[in-house]
Amino acid sequence: MNDNYKNEFAESANKHMYIGMVNESTLKKEGGPLIVKNSEGIYLTSYENENFIDGISGMYFRNVGHGRKEIAKAIYEQISTVSMNVYAGITPKSVELATKLSDITPSDLEKTFFCQGGSEANESSLKLAQAFHVRNGEKGRFKVISRNGSYHGSTYGTMWLGGHPGFPRTDYQPPPANLIHVRQPDYYRRDYPKQSSEEFTNECIKEIEDKILFHGPETISCFIGEPVSQPLGGVVPPENYWAMVRELCDKYGIILIFDEVITGFGRIGEWFGSNLFDVKPDIMSFAKGITSGYFPLGGSISTKKISSAFDGDPSNAWSHMYTYSAHPGGAAAALKNLEIIEEENLIQNAKDRGNQLFERLSEIKNKRRIVGDNRGIGLLQGLELVKDKKTKEHFDPSLRINQILTHKLKNRGIWIRVPAFILPVAPPLTSTASQIDHICNAIDESIEELEKELA
Ligand SMILES: Cc1ncc(COP(=O)(O)O)c(C=O)c1O
Repeated sequence: MNDNYKNEFAESANKHMYIGMVNESTLKKEGGPLIVKNSEGIYLTSYENENFIDGISGMYFRNVGHGRKEIAKAIYEQISTVSMNVYAGITPKSVELATKLSDITPSDLEKTFFCQGGSEANESSLKLAQAFHVRNGEKGRFKVISRNGSYHGSTYGTMWLGGHPGFPRTDYQPPPANLIHVRQPDYYRRDYPKQSSEEFTNECIKEIEDKILFHGPETISCFIGEPVSQPLGGVVPPENYWAMVRELCDKYGIILIFDEVITGFGRIGEWFGSNLFDVKPDIMSFAKGITSGYFPLGGSISTKKISSAFDGDPSNAWSHMYTYSAHPGGAAAALKNLEIIEEENLIQNAKDRGNQLFERLSEIKNKRRIVGDNRGIGLLQGLELVKDKKTKEHFDPSLRINQILTHKLKNRGIWIRVPAFILPVAPPLTSTASQIDHICNAIDESIEELEKELA
């Protein structure tokens, strides 16, 4: 692609396409937009024939890596025969996938509703929880507890859960009336330096219980959280946090929803976050890694306790659907993708490479004065950038150090879009030890260069 053509292409995109979360000037600062011509393994190739390591797996979804012809073939073969689902119908592949999901998810989860992505999955999980309470005669349970710093989607409902400076909601006021926000269990951001991890956990749990009691347990439908939360760089909660949240939910009749849209299907070195913490949710939302993004697919899987509320009389049925729910093309992609994850032992690789990545990012944190913390697990990790390590103050957003770093990494052959003050690292689960080293060397050099410029 010559320069003129590239500019024309970018101009047409600017004129005719909304590119999520950015506009032309942001993209210029970052040296983008990246126009991908090809992708293979963990590499992206641009139209200018530059190669980049995909350091964030597309958008935290490309678990099995790029260029998997076997998934393309599975989709092709499926949609060459049965290419859609009919209203109130089923297809063999979707049933096969639903059965497989009940095998690989924690034991109590057994019944899946399929949709197209993560926001719809969470929207479905929230509706499922509330409708469950209605079937049980508890119509007053409509409030949702979520954690600041989390991200659960972009639809009109899910965008209000969690909350993060990278996703401002100022255009969509006023917020709905069913929101309760609690803190993210991010030990780095504890209130007192001397607070132990146990004390911090107790404080987080006390806040949740206080809010439940303040609002009245009989008004609360569910608690939603990602087992390990990505937007703040892979927040791994302290040891007993999820077990204690589970206990609170049981005590007050609240449904626990795990949003495993990113953590699911091996990214954190386990099949799911629920396995990592040995805590069983009532409902789990999933998307991204289930097809590694080769087909838009998400879903919501629930326990028998939840699903049986909709059995019996036809009026009990759950009133919820999307046109493309349970598309057999998506199911074929997912089944092949899961086969690859199992056959290539990618979950173990995510664990091993994750340990290596954690060590390397810890070294960078210790060495670099603008890195306050490194956190995460498996191949879902990140660095928190700070102006001052002691006060943990962030840089003034007008300095746009995130865009500068995105550009610097790109110049070193790494594609990682740095949002706000977190530098995320989440390459495909197929990454090798030398590729992880390559990513970490580029991060270290980019930060070193930025530190010099800031000085
Ligand atoms: C944890 C989590 N939940 C939900 C979503 C929304 O998924 P989607 O963009 O597929 O709607 C995302 C997207 O990044 C996510 O990270």
